[in-house]
Amino acid sequence: MDPQAKKTVLRKIPHGVYVVGVAQDGVLNAFTATWLTQVSFTPALVALCVRKDSHSFAMVQASRVFSVNLLGKQQKLLAEHFVKPAAAAGEKLKGVPHRPGKTGAPILEEAMAHFECEVREIANIHGDHALVIGEVIDAGVQRDEPALTLMDTGWHYGG
Ligand SMILES: Cc1cc2nc3c(=O)[nH]c(=O)nc-3n(C[C@H](O)[C@H](O)[C@H](O)COP(=O)(O)O)c2cc1C
Repeated sequence: MDPQAKKTVLRKIPHGVYVVGVAQDGVLNAFTATWLTQVSFTPALVALCVRKDSHSFAMVQASRVFSVNLLGKQQKLLAEHFVKPAAAAGEKLKGVPHRPGKTGAPILEEAMAHFECEVREIANIHGDHALVIGEVIDAGVQRDEPALTLMDTGWHYGG
């Protein structure tokens, strides 16, 4: 295999940019994610890939819930804020208006839309990211506008 071709083509897969919220025993965290897709209509399931060495993965494993905040095209700065690991940045949600959702996971007041999930399955023992499959149990739309995509940001995550 040509490693450069592999990298180039994997980076061409179109993705959205989200802020995923997690909550465990009253402690909240959030991180920027792009590897997310719907995987079932009934029940409504989404698959989210979560770095196994992230702070958030340990929290998702323990609490089995997460929220997904969708951002508008102009909200790259908000996504940038949540790229930093909690281990280095501390409380990333401090100063970012939010409220607990049904699951307790944080909903960003500035997000254009959101949904919340209960984890049904965690897989991918071989990868550096775990495949977390969640059932959508609540959703809300704050504004109807085009969503921020990875291409809008000029960033890469993949390859
Ligand atoms: C553009 C971009 C996309 C990302 N997508 C994901 C993703 O889909 N899943 C993931 O686990 N981490 C993703 N990350 C990395 C996390 O945002 C990063 O590891 C974060 O520091 C984790 O935070 P935590 O340790 O506080 O949980 C992405 C980073 C960037 C810059």
